[in-house]
Amino acid sequence: MLARSVLRSARSVGATARNVASKTASRSASTTSSAAEGASWKTNALPIGATAFAAGTVAWYAYVAGRDVDAMTPAEEGLHPTQYPWEHAKWNKTFDSQAHGSLRRGFQVYREVCASCHSLSRIPYRSLVGKIMTVDEAKALAEENEYDTEPNDEGEIEKRPGKLSDYLPGPYKNDEAARAANNGALPPDLSLMVKARHGGCDYIFSLLTGYPEEPPAGAVVPEGLNFNPYFPGTGIAMARVLYDDLVEYEDETPATTSQMAKDVTEFLNWAAEPEADDRKKMGWKVLAVTSVLTALSIWVKRYKWASVKSRKLVYNPPIKSPILSKLPKPTNKS
Ligand code: HEC
Repeated sequence: MLARSVLRSARSVGATARNVASKTASRSASTTSSAAEGASWKTNALPIGATAFAAGTVAWYAYVAGRDVDAMTPAEEGLHPTQYPWEHAKWNKTFDSQAHGSLRRGFQVYREVCASCHSLSRIPYRSLVGKIMTVDEAKALAEENEYDTEPNDEGEIEKRPGKLSDYLPGPYKNDEAARAANNGALPPDLSLMVKARHGGCDYIFSLLTGYPEEPPAGAVVPEGLNFNPYFPGTGIAMARVLYDDLVEYEDETPATTSQMAKDVTEFLNWAAEPEADDRKKMGWKVLAVTSVLTALSIWVKRYKWASVKSRKLVYNPPIKSPILSKLPKPTNKS
């Protein structure tokens, strides 16, 4: 509809232009001899003008909307993290393939370092079983904390030791308490942190290991914040938390800053998608089954079509040509 009406109006504009041109031509024919010249100038002015207008519109649009417009400077966005070859990110590897110990170590770093400020509210003890610890270890860990019971007959809520179905407790009663303890900044829940930040694991590893000894010359670090080039805005309320030998790993892996950062990042990635290993395994099964089914269906198709595909229809017309019929019949004797 729109296209048609646009075409129609364009045609009528053209007609008007032609009328104007011919009127000018007839009028000028009576007075001057340069009629043809005047007509051609008037005829071309409209299409040239329209073309220039259209080209200008496109150019202006490309200038306004075609460029990448950033609301922030690169410093405000934060330094882009290096890409690291995470083992578990490979399509044929799981968290467990070589990193089973890494998850366990990462959970230890979380508990001993991060848990004093960050909650991990989406992880129940039961999900640690079989991945990070045994049932007994997880039960013992759950029992270290107290949880509310259901209201009893008098409506009182009592305390009971934790069970496997309970979720890891947070360090603060509520967000206000968390802010009050951290200079007004809220330490975010880490359950989905790997998914929630651009760069995922690379970002978190870079953030944890990226605190320089001194802020670079000229950098403005507001009071109470710490300089970290990877954090958007570069001023982060969390100070550097990982230092060499801060924790003691039970498997005697040297606890360097980068080792702890790697382990806790991998653990947080597991926390954000505990189903990743199962998903990859399921993917392999799907590939195995569908490739057998594909091969089978190709074979069945060829089997069913064999008689049609290998059929040959030959038509030998009777020879009626007067010349050909006079030729001697071919014999086998030579
Ligand atoms: C002393 C308290 C404290 C400890 C310990 C701590 N953090 Fe934080 N963390 C914070 C605060 C406060 C923020 C909010 C920073 C901000 O918004 O400026 C934060 C923010 C973060 C962020 C989010 C950054 C972003 O892009 O928004 C991540 C990721 C993080 N912490 C990871 C960790 C990890 C992993 C550990 C343990 C190795 C840890 N933190 C230990 C206080 C802490």
